[in-house]
Amino acid sequence: MHVLVMHQYFRCCMPLPVRAINRRYIGTLRGVKSMLDYLNNVGQCVNTAIYGPTADEVIKSEYVKGKTCLITGANCGIGLEMTRCLTAHDCTVLMACRNTYAASVVAKSICGNNHRLRFYEINLASLRSVKRCSDDILKDFKKIDIVLLNAGTFGLPWTLTEDNLETTFQVNYLSQYYLLTNIEKILAPNARIVFVSSESHRNIKWSFSDKLMPTEQLVSLPEHQYTSIKAYNVSKLCGILTMHHLGYRWLNDGKSVFCAHPGSFVKTRLCRNWWPFEALYTIMKPFSKTISQAASTPLYCATSPDLNNLTALYYKDCQRCDESELASDFHLSFRINDLTRDILRSRAAAPGEAALRAAPAQTDHIKHAMDDSLVAGY
Ligand SMILES: NC(=O)c1ccc[n+]([C@@H]2O[C@H](COP(=O)([O-])OP(=O)(O)OC[C@H]3O[C@@H](n4cnc5c(N)ncnc54)[C@H](OP(=O)(O)O)[C@@H]3O)[C@@H](O)[C@H]2O)c1
Repeated sequence: MHVLVMHQYFRCCMPLPVRAINRRYIGTLRGVKSMLDYLNNVGQCVNTAIYGPTADEVIKSEYVKGKTCLITGANCGIGLEMTRCLTAHDCTVLMACRNTYAASVVAKSICGNNHRLRFYEINLASLRSVKRCSDDILKDFKKIDIVLLNAGTFGLPWTLTEDNLETTFQVNYLSQYYLLTNIEKILAPNARIVFVSSESHRNIKWSFSDKLMPTEQLVSLPEHQYTSIKAYNVSKLCGILTMHHLGYRWLNDGKSVFCAHPGSFVKTRLCRNWWPFEALYTIMKPFSKTISQAASTPLYCATSPDLNNLTALYYKDCQRCDESELASDFHLSFRINDLTRDILRSRAAAPGEAALRAAPAQTDHIKHAMDDSLVAGY
């Protein structure tokens, strides 16, 4: 009997206070949610003001429509975002990736214009693989308008590649230079090349003798001199120096070449190789660019008409910026170019020999003259 009365009581009386509490609770939750939305919007505005535009904001359809762009390391991070953006504006993107199956799955789920995607397998830790990839590209395409040398690795323990070179140096710089050299003959007359660079190149200081006569050990670090940060910085420095050399070589050509720093501590898979880096990038995430913001500067360099008739410049936050003094050493850029060619030639499997030899004789002549004058200057 008592149980029945209690049951009736709860059925009739309890819902009212419970509903009232619920209403207040839901009201509070709504308040908190709208407050969070508001803060998020403010945060986004502040973020845009500090970290600049997104990739979608810098790209303009009329300058990319119908063009063909090759991107290395296009399957994730900044490379994938650039791929998404370019295909959305009817640009054909050749994705040069280590795992083409994984790349096709992820890219097809993200990019609207799937028919604009092409996949090429490349392992930048192997010159043979780079050669195979460039041969495939040469077979399929007659003209490439944009090359984004974006692939990169960071935080690896010291390892040698099958070509007997330090891995970070080969992946981040040497193999991508080799790829570019191999496909040079199909670059459009007004092609744009962008090395995705890094501000951290500033941390490299080379001695007088290193600058005068750079050796293989200076760039492909031996184990006792190796730290992953140093290897990464050296590879990025080599990219900028090579930009200067190419800028000079293509001076009377319509081709142009740029280096772009995407942003610092952008949370991508770049930091995956060592957990302290992963932790650091995670902590820094709220204070860094988003991946889309990071993709904006390389895309700006690759596509913006503002850069017509310019070449061999370093960009950061979509703005022209001075690279380090070492990276802007014009004479050093020739020596690094010589060293790069020597390293490639000395690898028995380096099959791009012909392309490497094809550099105009005039350039060599000028280069030697300049080197002599520099030595005299010292
Ligand atoms: N994130 C930053 O804060 C930051 C700052 C300054 C500069 N950058 C530069 O931005 C560029 C893009 O980096 P991210 O941040 O987007 O990093 P990410 O997400 O790790 O992308 C790097 C890409 O490089 C590819 N790659 C690595 N090793 C390779 C190899 N041996 N062969 C072929 N592909 C290889 C990766 O392919 P897998 O997926 O197969 O490994 C991946 O697609 C890099 O050049 C990096 O140095 C990034």
